[in-house]
Amino acid sequence: MNILVIGNGGREHAVLLALKKSKRVNKLYCMKGNAGTAQIAQNVDVDYMDIAAVKKFLLSHPDINYVVVTPDDPLALGLVDELEKTGIRCFGPNKSAAIVEWSKAYSKELMSKYGIPTAKARVFTDYNEALVYVRQEGAPLVLKADGLALGKGVLVCKTLKEAEEGLKDIMLNKTFGSAGNTVLVEECLQGLKYNPGEEVSLLTFTDGKTVVPMVTSCDHKRAEDGDKGLNTGGMGTFTPCPFWTPELEAEVMQTIVYPTVNALNAEGRTFKGCLYFGLMRTDKGMKVIEYNSRFGDPETQVVLPMLKTDLLDVFEAVTDGRLSDIKIEWEDGACVCVVLASGGYPLSYKKGKEIKIGDVGEVTLVHAGTAIKDGKLVTNGGRVLNVVAKGKTVDEAREKAYKAIEKISWENMQYRSDIGIKYREG
Ligand code: AMP
Ligand code: GLY
Repeated sequence: MNILVIGNGGREHAVLLALKKSKRVNKLYCMKGNAGTAQIAQNVDVDYMDIAAVKKFLLSHPDINYVVVTPDDPLALGLVDELEKTGIRCFGPNKSAAIVEWSKAYSKELMSKYGIPTAKARVFTDYNEALVYVRQEGAPLVLKADGLALGKGVLVCKTLKEAEEGLKDIMLNKTFGSAGNTVLVEECLQGLKYNPGEEVSLLTFTDGKTVVPMVTSCDHKRAEDGDKGLNTGGMGTFTPCPFWTPELEAEVMQTIVYPTVNALNAEGRTFKGCLYFGLMRTDKGMKVIEYNSRFGDPETQVVLPMLKTDLLDVFEAVTDGRLSDIKIEWEDGACVCVVLASGGYPLSYKKGKEIKIGDVGEVTLVHAGTAIKDGKLVTNGGRVLNVVAKGKTVDEAREKAYKAIEKISWENMQYRSDIGIKYREG
């Protein structure tokens, strides 16, 4: 089969690397891709937010039998719906199901209606009403812009002053654009053992009937060591999550995962694809922080290398509604992904820096923001490369990843040196 993967980042390169292992895959395409995807797929220079242009490209490439849509914005735009109308098979939810990510207010209402554990919240469209509530609740609190805001629309406010300023920024100054027309004011959850609280990403495959959890992973959202600094798209991940147990998984499947999938069915929004649960362990059990309608980035970079089953078989089973027919198997052991970023990220940074790579040993270099310029590999984004290493334990994988990083350099490269060591029990 010939497959088109939509997206440009590390997640898409990781999906392509997993698909490449399938015996049934013939040719891979990536729209638009990066220098890494170009090594295993044909990059397609078409804007995937332009539905007519994507359709035109597919019409001129009848050899492409399947499209995988991974970024949030084309899912929210309804790219899957539009492609399916023309008879093209896709992996990814339609727009009405992807609402779990593109409207945080909708997700909150869904969880409240179906009794799915999450932080208490109120939704506001009026600034003055929101301000009264913020003052009444007091700090700490969390403010969330309703729509998609490149993963940046969440403010965790430790003081009332921060909360008041944040509310003004989101609702009046429109820091996150129209995403801030509606705001959620949310209770700040505390972790059971750690502060900030312990979070785990649980990605699942679902066809709307069967749900299969993937191996768990932990993201590192802050820019600096010790979970300090600004929020980013994610500076690294590791699997498995140290506090995850089979008992906890059973509890989460029963109280959160199946209730969510069933709730979406009951609302006529059957979800088919990868449904991502961002969870926090609190003293009152596991609670939902957020849903994503897609694979996480950089979670995918550590989860998919552990998949033993052919990814194309899984994708097609989801599309065709026969996920219960296949057995999905995972490797034991651990995997660590360290993100190498441009100096200054997540604020301003320079692009076009030449990347030098020596002998990195037994790791996979997943490309995020890279390009080829004048025959040289150069930086082309905030998050540039993901160094992915496997091991029997997280420590073994960590050691391999950081050893490899010594062989990689460019001007002002930055990364966290503590990926993989948080939430250790005992
Ligand atoms: P999100 O974009 O929804 O993943 O939120 C970004 C980050 O903000 C999360 O990963 C958490 O660290 C934090 N966060 C979001 N909601 C809450 C909450 N209700 N309580 C505490 N922290 C939160
Ligand atoms: N790593 C978090 C996300 O993909 O939203």
